[in-house]
Amino acid sequence: MEEQGTLEHPGDIDAEVFRQQAHRMVDWVAGYLADGGRAYPVLSRVEPGEVASKLPVAAPEHGEDPDTIWRDFEHVVLPGVTHWNHAGFMAYFGITGSAPGILGELLSAALNVNGMLWRTCPSATELEVVVLGWLRRALGLPEELFGFLTDTASISSMLAVAAAREAADLDVRMRGMCGRTDLPPLRVYASDQAHSSIAKACLALGLGLEGYRAIPHDAEFRMDVAALEEAVAEDREAGVLPLAVVATVGTTSTTSVDPVPAIADLCEREGMWLHVDAAYAGSAAICPEHRSCLDGCERADSFVFNPHKWLFTPIDASALYTRHPDTFKRAFSLVPEYLKTPVTGQVVDLMDYGVQLGRRFRALKLWWVLRSFGLEGIRTRLRHHIEMARKLSNWVDAHPRLKRTAPTPFSVVCFRVAGDPVGDGEEADRFNLELMERINASGEVYLSHTRLDDRISLRVAIGNLRTTPADVERLRSLIDRELECLSAR
Ligand SMILES: Cc1ncc(COP(=O)(O)O)c(C=O)c1O
Repeated sequence: MEEQGTLEHPGDIDAEVFRQQAHRMVDWVAGYLADGGRAYPVLSRVEPGEVASKLPVAAPEHGEDPDTIWRDFEHVVLPGVTHWNHAGFMAYFGITGSAPGILGELLSAALNVNGMLWRTCPSATELEVVVLGWLRRALGLPEELFGFLTDTASISSMLAVAAAREAADLDVRMRGMCGRTDLPPLRVYASDQAHSSIAKACLALGLGLEGYRAIPHDAEFRMDVAALEEAVAEDREAGVLPLAVVATVGTTSTTSVDPVPAIADLCEREGMWLHVDAAYAGSAAICPEHRSCLDGCERADSFVFNPHKWLFTPIDASALYTRHPDTFKRAFSLVPEYLKTPVTGQVVDLMDYGVQLGRRFRALKLWWVLRSFGLEGIRTRLRHHIEMARKLSNWVDAHPRLKRTAPTPFSVVCFRVAGDPVGDGEEADRFNLELMERINASGEVYLSHTRLDDRISLRVAIGNLRTTPADVERLRSLIDRELECLSAR
């Protein structure tokens, strides 16, 4: 073993210390995962500023003992962790950093490669392209789609809107958008249920929030295509250039699915780019019985779904597909001398398809996840989540005080308490929020809320591999118990 950390060669920490610490950590992680995080309250109970107040204002001047660092991890950091990997995490979208994914992350950190160019790590590029091909086939998407990974759906969608703008041949790459009298106002359309990342993409790309138009939804929270058609006609009339439509498969609040085939028809007629945001629900298409949720997506110009949402891959990993990789390259490729290699132009250099240069080796964890579970293993697990959500949905429907507020196509159940004695207005909203806070204070489960047709709804999102029917049963008991306590006041 090479001597490390000496004055002559002040390298990394001692290899043996690393080995001991790593074993200790892996043991801790194995126990944490085996227990589904249940030893901890799922929602952190710290007050704002509490964690920071326990940390020194300056970095230590001299290296500290690993045991001291570990003690602070346990006593200072852990209490301020909200446990997304907890079996009772049912807020936002339930997600899982699965054991195979964690192993992939460990190796990725150890290799510490930067896959900006093919040459800077051929395996990072080729594994990414191949694994994205596996996923494309698993979802039943067309062969001609080219896929690559980004960190988040927000960034994937922003790149897609930038590609849509490039496809419109407005010479924005060269001339930008500022002060151009020849440029009409540009507009991107999405339903009023779409994720805020789409409006943010407009904001970041200089279209401004006025460049984003929210289209009303129908009774099942899907984009109203007739309203979209009217909006596009009205905008054209006013001299606005309709650039792109973002359809959502699995909206954030209710997991509704926009009518993509009809939207694709309109996009084709109007020459607009179609981007599909399937960040959460895309994974469901791995199950043949849910594949129809992607009907029409085969016609999309770009499509995103997040393995870090419902594909058991530790955050972050977002899969972006497009049938126009050259348009992304036109929008983003810029190759200074120091990034040229003997194979430039003959290989895929993933830095060419987006803004960032440096790229993590994300494909490794995804590869580990897909190989460890296999597609059939993933299907079984997704079906289990959907089944738990279906049963919870049935329970809500049969409950005298709860009202389901949206269909349950996947693994998210939306409901609210309504009727006597709280009514169905603002008092009921306050009651529902209080109910949620009381349930969350239990530390056993964590729910989130949304606003549907101007009224508060609670959301239960099942998506963690360690969530069992007993956890959902516990949630039901907590709802009943807290409802009773609140009503007895
Ligand atoms: C439909 C949808 N799109 C995009 C996002 C944003 O995802 P990310 O955090 O990967 O940017 C979310 C997040 O929940 C989402 O639900």
